[in-house]
Amino acid sequence: WGSLGHETVAWIAQSYVSPATESTIKALLESNRTDYMANVSTWADSYRYTSEGRWTAPLHYIDANDDPPSSCSVDYARDCGDAGCSVSAIVNYTSILLNGHHRPSSSRNASSAAVLKDAARFIIHFIGDLHQPLHDEALDVGGNTINVTYDGEDTNLHHIWDTEIVEQLADGMDAHEFAENLTKSIEAGDYGWNVNGWLSGVVSVNNTLATAMEWASEANAFVCTDVLQEGVDAVEDDGDLSRSYYEAHYDVARVQIAKAGYRLGIWLNLIVTGRMDG
Ligand code: ADE
Ligand code: ZN
Ligand code: ZN
Repeated sequence: WGSLGHETVAWIAQSYVSPATESTIKALLESNRTDYMANVSTWADSYRYTSEGRWTAPLHYIDANDDPPSSCSVDYARDCGDAGCSVSAIVNYTSILLNGHHRPSSSRNASSAAVLKDAARFIIHFIGDLHQPLHDEALDVGGNTINVTYDGEDTNLHHIWDTEIVEQLADGMDAHEFAENLTKSIEAGDYGWNVNGWLSGVVSVNNTLATAMEWASEANAFVCTDVLQEGVDAVEDDGDLSRSYYEAHYDVARVQIAKAGYRLGIWLNLIVTGRMDG
């Protein structure tokens, strides 16, 4: 996602963390800001473009080598490369947080504090990216080389899912307002959302790999049923995607952002307290 997507995910998560989780995460992030999570949610995107952080670029996605729109699947052994992927990153940084969050800040040296802070910032970002369907798809470099037009501008399919659809959905709201709007919809079960279902299956910090793979598979399935449902050629030839393509697909972007925020909040509660409700 772009910055609006990541910040919205982080603000939603801020509504679902318990007071104990909030104080632990604030300590790890060395922040007392109201927007403590939203404020760091795009740090990983800046870091990947530094020379020091270049190695983290593959951690933003898992490149499912399937064949949409005829088949969609994610396979860890097949798809998570030697350089790592979003799923291995979530496993690694969850484990760092599980092992380190409970040690008092006063007992941390500068380097262990930095490792924990980065782990928290990475988790906040990568759980967001995991829910963007094209971050779970290799075809055409996650849609980056599928050239399309949106609102009269030449762009690519990846970018319209990261940014354009999300901005059109938010309709001028900032991330905080958009998140409040989505949080109300989560509470009300709007749009047929089955929020309990969002935590079904394996959701356990004792099996992060299975949890992250389940979330990746679910997002990747939308590549066949929605994102590229019409096929690459049809999407490329569809004209301006801000109209009928947007109308046909915005609900997937909306549910995936809401789900990512809700799951991120619960995930942080599980890390800090072992309980979903913190
Ligand atoms: N680079 C390679 N694959 C990608 C993907 N699925 N999403 C974003 N960037 C990528
Ligand atoms: Zn992206
Ligand atoms: Zn990213």
